[in-house]
Amino acid sequence: MSKNINELIINWYDKNKRDLPWRKTKDPYKIWLSEIILQQTRVNQGMSYYERFINNFPNIKALALADEQQVLQLWQGLGYYSRARNIHKAAKLVHLKHNSVFPNTYKEIIELPGIGDYTASAISSFAFNEPQAVLDGNVFRVLSRLFNWETPIDSTKGKKEFREMAQDFLFLSDPASHNQAIMELGALVCSPKSPKCDSCPVVQHCASFKAKNFESLPVKSKKTAVRKRYLHFLHIQSGEDVLIEQRLKKDIWQHLYQLPLIEMTDMNDGEIPNLVTQKYSARIIQHTVSEPIEHLLSHQKLNIKFHQINLGKKIEHEDLKWVNNSDLYLYPFPKPLVDYLKLKE
Ligand code: ADE
Repeated sequence: MSKNINELIINWYDKNKRDLPWRKTKDPYKIWLSEIILQQTRVNQGMSYYERFINNFPNIKALALADEQQVLQLWQGLGYYSRARNIHKAAKLVHLKHNSVFPNTYKEIIELPGIGDYTASAISSFAFNEPQAVLDGNVFRVLSRLFNWETPIDSTKGKKEFREMAQDFLFLSDPASHNQAIMELGALVCSPKSPKCDSCPVVQHCASFKAKNFESLPVKSKKTAVRKRYLHFLHIQSGEDVLIEQRLKKDIWQHLYQLPLIEMTDMNDGEIPNLVTQKYSARIIQHTVSEPIEHLLSHQKLNIKFHQINLGKKIEHEDLKWVNNSDLYLYPFPKPLVDYLKLKE
């Protein structure tokens, strides 16, 4: 029965799969890059990032020898910059410890920074056909619906059950195609809302289609808490120069650059002039404020205002740097600042 279902899914995949650049290679380095990018964005946007990374760093040695700023810049706009720092760290490690040869087993691959169970399973199965079932959002959805399995996928019990189910379901004759096929089915047919059951190759075997509860699967027990933050960025200019700073703390956007930031507990800007004067020992000559914008991250909602401030003098401060307007593009900035400063990504 399971072999039959597996074959139906793989046959469907062979006929319907999207033509994607990382599916034409067995190079673990390229597969790894594509998987990390795809954890961050959708396939359409991910393609241009993938091409740019491969063009700039055609192999792991080139990535290992790059400087962090260049890596962060190519990642600019994808968010979650610790992923970019981790791929750089992992590349350096493979270069130094494995003579630039990407490890070829799940066990060794999962030891690399930024690589968890999903990515190690994806690389070891796609590149080396190792029988490791992948478990991502698509796979959780397809399996929970196919087997009408209602244990919450974010519970310890659910994670264990789904891991076992995915591994039992793996088509051992072709783990690479099996994993790709289930994910593709989840992406193209078994979508979160209004799945296209009419075009599903295994609808006759689908337990939740029979039970008519596929819309409520997979089950999740918790809602993720979203933290609200209020960011006031100071756009301070002197002639052609702009004041910027680097984000050094362990927080969102670590190591990226930004306009000097004052973080508050709300959007109220009454205190900003006082705070600026205290912080930079300078009086504000002119001050305008942009309309607030919202920027959503996976677990944070950022409320942002930009303050255009004239201090009437070119202040010096150890944590700040004056940069010519036309050189701003050389620094990696987070997406809302790229948009505000109208920099090209
Ligand atoms: N999402 C995650 N990995 C993927 C892959 N290899 N192809 C398409 N979408 C994906």
